[in-house]
Amino acid sequence: MKSNGLFDITPVRYTDGQLMILDQTMLPGEEKYIKIETKEDIWEAIYKLRVRGAPAIGVAAAYGLYIEARRYEGTSIERFYDYVCEAASYINTARPTAVNLSWALRRMTSGLEAARTDSPEKGKAWLLNEAEKIRREDEQACRAMGEYGLTLLKPGMGILTHCNAGTIATARYGTCLAPIYLGQEKGYDFRVFADETRPLLQGARLTSWELDKAGIDVTLICDNMAASVMKKGWIDAVVVGCDRMAANGDGANKIGTSAVAILAHEFGIPFYMYVPTSTIDMETPTGDDIEIELREGEEIYKMWYEKPMAPEGIKTYNPSFDVTDHKYITAVITEKGIVRPPYDINLKKITENKVK
Ligand code: MRU
Repeated sequence: MKSNGLFDITPVRYTDGQLMILDQTMLPGEEKYIKIETKEDIWEAIYKLRVRGAPAIGVAAAYGLYIEARRYEGTSIERFYDYVCEAASYINTARPTAVNLSWALRRMTSGLEAARTDSPEKGKAWLLNEAEKIRREDEQACRAMGEYGLTLLKPGMGILTHCNAGTIATARYGTCLAPIYLGQEKGYDFRVFADETRPLLQGARLTSWELDKAGIDVTLICDNMAASVMKKGWIDAVVVGCDRMAANGDGANKIGTSAVAILAHEFGIPFYMYVPTSTIDMETPTGDDIEIELREGEEIYKMWYEKPMAPEGIKTYNPSFDVTDHKYITAVITEKGIVRPPYDINLKKITENKVK
């Protein structure tokens, strides 16, 4: 895929024994990497959204766990295993909604146990290998989602997206932006509208930066302008990512996604949710069972402004995600294919051989 070098900027880098995270809070101004040396470092990077986006969080957590495991100095394999499990439980508390965090950590700890390595050194090597595998698989999944997703789009379409489910939210290529990059390579000339995505502005800071850098026609709009551009007939499809999809097809994604889905339904516009199988949580029956992260109110009125944009100490409500009801989702694009309703039956089929 063409990208003007964008795909060289991966959110998680492990080279020469060092784990580096692209600090996404500095974008679009600075492309700066920070070094991760302990479990506290990776916890902080995830909590503060230096690394964010469900798949990238999973990849970062897997490497972060290995980095912490590497600090274990003893020789007892049992104690090593307890050390790794404790670190995994701690990292898992950084953010609650994106299931990739717990999925990746569970894959690392249960896989380590099953591998029955006979020394901590071999256990460490196993963990690094598994983290690399999680990263590679995510990259391949994104490519595949790009190809499946492109079959749903036509040249010249106007596409609306919310938040950032692009290359820096994943190992590489993105989930819902992957078909846009692939289409660009084939001369599809999409016109993309990016919701700014308050309060942390992932659409403005990250999606518009990514697409612009890759040379794609992108127009930034405020979150409350979606109905207006839909009514003008500028939007032919909506594409979004997902942080956790429940077994019935309800999908949690960045706050504001469900409003876009309801609008798309009203205007007869297809609404596509891109969900790698690592983000499908068959143990969560419905969207009502998904824990929604609540964040500091200061993010709404202080964080991005020179002066507070509301009276100091004002009462706030700042949920980070909302749940889009499955009835508004036209199709779910996974790396294994496109899933259509009834989701309760078809998600079960597509996740049958998922690595736990
Ligand atoms: O709070 P964030 O920035 O981690 O939220 C990210 C999203 O909501 C993305 O749409 C989702 O994680 C999918 S990323 C491929």
